Amino acid sequence: MRHLIDITELTINELEKLMETAIDIDEHGEKYAHAMEGKILATLFFEPRTRLSFEAAFIKMGGNVIGFDNTISSSTAKGESLIDTIKTVSIYADIIAMRHFLEGAAFAAALNSSCPIINAGDGGHCHPTQTLADILTIKRETGRLDNLTIGVCGDLKYGRAVHSLINALSRYKNNKFILISPPELTLTDNYVKQVFDDNGICYERCNSIEEKVNSFDILYMTRIQRERFDDAAMYERLKNSFELNVDMIKNAKPTMRILHPLPRVTEINTNVDNGPHAAYFKQVKNGMLMRMALILDLLKQKDNYYENFNILDTEKKCQNNKCVVNSERNVNNYQKKIEGQNVCAYCEKEF
Ligand code: NCD
Repeated sequence: MRHLIDITELTINELEKLMETAIDIDEHGEKYAHAMEGKILATLFFEPRTRLSFEAAFIKMGGNVIGFDNTISSSTAKGESLIDTIKTVSIYADIIAMRHFLEGAAFAAALNSSCPIINAGDGGHCHPTQTLADILTIKRETGRLDNLTIGVCGDLKYGRAVHSLINALSRYKNNKFILISPPELTLTDNYVKQVFDDNGICYERCNSIEEKVNSFDILYMTRIQRERFDDAAMYERLKNSFELNVDMIKNAKPTMRILHPLPRVTEINTNVDNGPHAAYFKQVKNGMLMRMALILDLLKQKDNYYENFNILDTEKKCQNNKCVVNSERNVNNYQKKIEGQNVCAYCEKEF
């Protein structure tokens, strides 16, 4: 059995194959219309949105869907642990797509599930299926995934879509990242070290979109992630940090494309929507296609997922209060190594 918890679990070759399948689904949908007949997808959304993309993907392949998108209508309301929910639902379903507010929740689920788990977002940690949507969009719009200058703007600290996107695109040759955020919402030092510094990836930080807009091939806009802030006043101060409008992109290359994982709040003015640069609604369609391709693939795989991880028992306690190990019952302490460093196996923060 295989899961998809983190985008780095897929090789470049596997990403290419998923994109090929997604394009084939787009062009010859009828070939796939019965692929999930008799199968059940469970969508367990402890946080909202994107559930519909998974459900549409599965229904388009002839499958059935069960699930919830708030904890009030799930057993969590009666005090059930995440692990027990997963053990139960994986008896009913052939595959589970889950979104949870705790970092590492999907990995904890995978360790306890009898069917494949797709991480549809775990707190501010990662969001691999959004990255699948993003890379197919970039490939279709620009013809390539390498030699790109990518502006990434907004909440880089808590934005899980950004974390997974950079993890994926930094594996392709000659990509350069321009990081634009308020100082309070920059990528964490640990992430910058692990992903950019240790791998010699080119990046720079800047404060405004206009300053660099003429160099971008891709401008990836993101929402300030209100639900992750411990300090409501800080959110109020930062929420309108960026509002992209047509004037700000007048010096952009004609081929530059703007992506956004959605939902949008105020960070892109609607006057950008009908211009040649906007690609965020194409991204929605590509997301559904890539989820279809991923589900097809995961249900075929017979890998032993856990062997790839090298996770070890540890006496050490994860210090991240947003990590699943600190809030959920029956989640064992595990560690793993990233770039030679011991990190929590769930949220990947240093001990
Ligand atoms: C993103 C997410 O949930 O991280 N949205 C999504 O998957 N559609 C981005 C966001 O919520 O801002």
